[in-house]
Amino acid sequence: MSAKIIDGFAIANEVRGDVAKEVILLKEKGITPTLAVILVGQNPASVSYVTGKTKALHEAGMKDDTYKLPESTSEEELLTLIKKLNESHSINGILVQLPLPKQINADKVIATIDPKKDVDGFHPENIGRMFLGEETFIPCTPYGVVHLLQHEGVKTEGANVVIVGRSNIVGKPLSLLMLSKEISATVTVCHSKTKDLANVTKQADILIAAIGSPQFVKKEWIKKGAVVIDVGVNRVDDASKKSGFRLVGDVDFEGASQIASYITPVPKGVGPMTIAMLIKNTLLAAKRQNGIK
Ligand code: GUN
Repeated sequence: MSAKIIDGFAIANEVRGDVAKEVILLKEKGITPTLAVILVGQNPASVSYVTGKTKALHEAGMKDDTYKLPESTSEEELLTLIKKLNESHSINGILVQLPLPKQINADKVIATIDPKKDVDGFHPENIGRMFLGEETFIPCTPYGVVHLLQHEGVKTEGANVVIVGRSNIVGKPLSLLMLSKEISATVTVCHSKTKDLANVTKQADILIAAIGSPQFVKKEWIKKGAVVIDVGVNRVDDASKKSGFRLVGDVDFEGASQIASYITPVPKGVGPMTIAMLIKNTLLAAKRQNGIK
């Protein structure tokens, strides 16, 4: 058996196209959704993500207000900038690219962003709202994973979903989403201390890898016919590439695609969806701030 490869790139382009159409309508009302993007330092992966995000904003007809700050930026300087952006009527969303340098407390930074402009959905108030099933911003990567599953018509009601990884950005929020009434999966979250991990993952109808370790999930850990979603984006050395590296996921793709029914590739799987959902959330922020349904 060979799994169907889920084309995250194409599905993300559909979402981006739908967002762009709505932006045209908003612009007719004099509203141009605008996202403030803050990058501190020059982490190569972060630089690449921020470039992809601003490009997607422009292609959807939106504006960016990008701040590239030095690695030495103090927490106070960053908090002052965020407070200014919170007050600015021309800014609909604020995104601070993570990780941040060690002198800056990321939790404090996230908690300073106005929850109404928190398009990442990381603010404690928005996380609390998601917990309660109230109106919020859904964190972009979990939102993208759910959109991929729904797009492919994967049945989630009563399905055994196993998430490998418990980060605040992916694993934890995704577990809440999967538990929601709309999705109604049975959810297991695994992590580095989980006993007999392979035995747990083998129960999964839908297996989601978000552990941040290259090719961590092996073919033998997957149930025949399972849907495999690979959230990992790991750079591994590759002298044959001009860049000196290639991207691999958290799943052994070659092996897993012989067992799974559906699988996301890396790159062009979940990655493009994260960006698509970010511009969708930016549109949503602009609409909510202007009282548009
Ligand atoms: N770093 C890795 N993923 C993300 C994300 O979704 N948002 C932000 N702000 N930083 C990240």
